[in-house]
Amino acid sequence: MTKVFGHRGSKGYFPENTLLSFHEAIRAGVDGIELDVHLTKDRQLVVIHDATVDRTFDGSGYVKDFNLVDLKRLKLNQSFKSFTHYQSTWDLERIPTLEEALEIFALAKIDLNIELKTTQFDYPGIEEMVISCVKQYAPSLNVIYSSFHLPTLARLRACDPNCNIGFLVEQPIPLLQDYLKQFQLNKIHLDKSLIKHIKMTSDISMQDIKVWTVNKTSELIYFLNKEVDTIITDFPDRALQIRHEL
Ligand code: G3P
Ligand code: CA
Repeated sequence: MTKVFGHRGSKGYFPENTLLSFHEAIRAGVDGIELDVHLTKDRQLVVIHDATVDRTFDGSGYVKDFNLVDLKRLKLNQSFKSFTHYQSTWDLERIPTLEEALEIFALAKIDLNIELKTTQFDYPGIEEMVISCVKQYAPSLNVIYSSFHLPTLARLRACDPNCNIGFLVEQPIPLLQDYLKQFQLNKIHLDKSLIKHIKMTSDISMQDIKVWTVNKTSELIYFLNKEVDTIITDFPDRALQIRHEL
């Protein structure tokens, strides 16, 4: 059965990559959650999508230029007030550390996809830090690490020969199966528009593919019928309902 992962928690309904968003995705019944990780100036792993805080929090600047204590002072950007479910309690949300997020997932016993955001900045050592953090705070969790950045994927594999790694693909890649073999990658994390470019071979099946970000009903039905491994969605409740009805 195709798994349903909440994208940045429940991004369609709640402030992305916050503990609130993760709790709500878990409450909806997701099989797993996808989140994004950056590194602060004082080398703390934090959960945020952009390299800067500007879009999602009420500050300005790169995550890499903040110490954790200063990041933790930031409140959510006012734009979240336009969300349907907005409540004033949302103002209590802060940028989570990876450790804080892992503690929730360890209790919920759901799967996790940690995307390392290393395309813009390399964050030396982040791969080993993320793997160590998971081993320390959620050792029994089923985790898959992903990145758009091939050197990060290679470093993840070097750090842990047994970990699960997903290759984030957003443009057609000739000889994709060669990359999978060369870097010992476990899954393809595919932009939904690229499914028509993927040729099923003895090396690649629908069970090797996690598709993002699938939100529309018609697309959800399409990928559920294709029986891809995982659908990553901003609206996990919608995906779970459709999966239940099919
Ligand atoms: O992991 C799938 C998806 O999250 C990758 O794109 O930009 O939403 O992090 P983005
Ligand atoms: Ca992501």
